[in-house]
Amino acid sequence: MASSTSTITATMIATFFLLLLPSFYAAEILTNRKSSSLPRSDVDLLEFPLNLEYLEAEFFLWGSLGRGLDRIAPNLTQGGPPPIGAKAAKLDPLTRDIIVQFAFQEVGHLRAIKSTVPGFPRPLLNLSAASFATVMDNAFGRPLVPPFDPYANELNYLLASYVVPYVGLTGYVGANPKLQSATAKRLVAGLLGVESGQDAVLRALLYKRAAKKVAPYGITVAEFTNNISKLRNKLGRAGVKDEGLIVKPFQGAEGRVTGNVLAGDRYSISFDRTPEEILRIVYGGGDESVPGGFYPKGADGRIARSHLKAKRT
Ligand SMILES: *[C@@H]1O[C@H](CO)[C@@H](O)[C@H](O)[C@H]1NC(C)=O
Ligand SMILES: *[C@@H]1O[C@H](CO)[C@@H](O)[C@H](O)[C@H]1NC(C)=O
Ligand SMILES: *[C@@H]1O[C@H](CO)[C@@H](O)[C@H](O)[C@H]1NC(C)=O
Repeated sequence: MASSTSTITATMIATFFLLLLPSFYAAEILTNRKSSSLPRSDVDLLEFPLNLEYLEAEFFLWGSLGRGLDRIAPNLTQGGPPPIGAKAAKLDPLTRDIIVQFAFQEVGHLRAIKSTVPGFPRPLLNLSAASFATVMDNAFGRPLVPPFDPYANELNYLLASYVVPYVGLTGYVGANPKLQSATAKRLVAGLLGVESGQDAVLRALLYKRAAKKVAPYGITVAEFTNNISKLRNKLGRAGVKDEGLIVKPFQGAEGRVTGNVLAGDRYSISFDRTPEEILRIVYGGGDESVPGGFYPKGADGRIARSHLKAKRT
């Protein structure tokens, strides 16, 4: 008796699940079609860094080759407007060689992200000398005279390059624990690896010149990096997540060194940033809902757009 009851119960349960299956699959297929088979939150977190990858691709392509995505890989722009004020920088052969490599690495990153998620067209980017000069003026709390020109020579270009890629790196560290799918985690780990490699190369090139004074300002390279990092901490509004090339001993590795060729927390673990912290920094004003700085019309993708809408409506 008992066994026949349990057989009936088991059959009923099995039937119930069989009936559920078709609708479960239908829902799954619909979701897949919309979000290229990744959870929606993974799609959003993978699309957000496209904003920074576009900036880096354009800045490095223009700086080293004197032309941007419109000439090198027009499809990747998806018809987005060309950047404002980007141009070739005066670089020595070694720096140009390295920046060309960074540039094509960024083009690869754009392809990798866009082959995984739908993405969006290139946002409007303000890469004019004035845009970088504004960042430097804010970092020092006074206008530099003459205004800082990122394209004038390799040292200025390296200092300008210190401004953005590191922010992207902290974004990948921040995104990682929020990702659900193996596909997204693999992609972000791979992007993070090369972005942090670029950061290490830039920092090492600058570290070699840490005590050198940047002409004509009489400010050392180390002071430039320290003040840019302080500015980013202030704009991000989330504590210390950024350190220059020379720090107080307590900030160095194991609290024992003042040289800081790589930035990290007290365990020398990379700092993380949220998309909101990143927007506050790259918009230049410390507010994720007020576009400006490098993104005059704001960044794109669902995360960045949600903050713009919040303010306007
Ligand atoms: C670029 O876009 C054009 C037109 O949409 C297409 O025919 C071409 O195959 C694309 N090229 C690449 C490399 O994706
Ligand atoms: C680009 O940035 C500079 C410096 O902030 C600003 O003067 C200029 O108006 C900006 N251009 C656009 C189109 O937003
Ligand atoms: C760096 O910024 C601090 C304020 O955070 C300022 O006191 C200092 O003068 C700046 N350094 C230079 C060289 O201007």
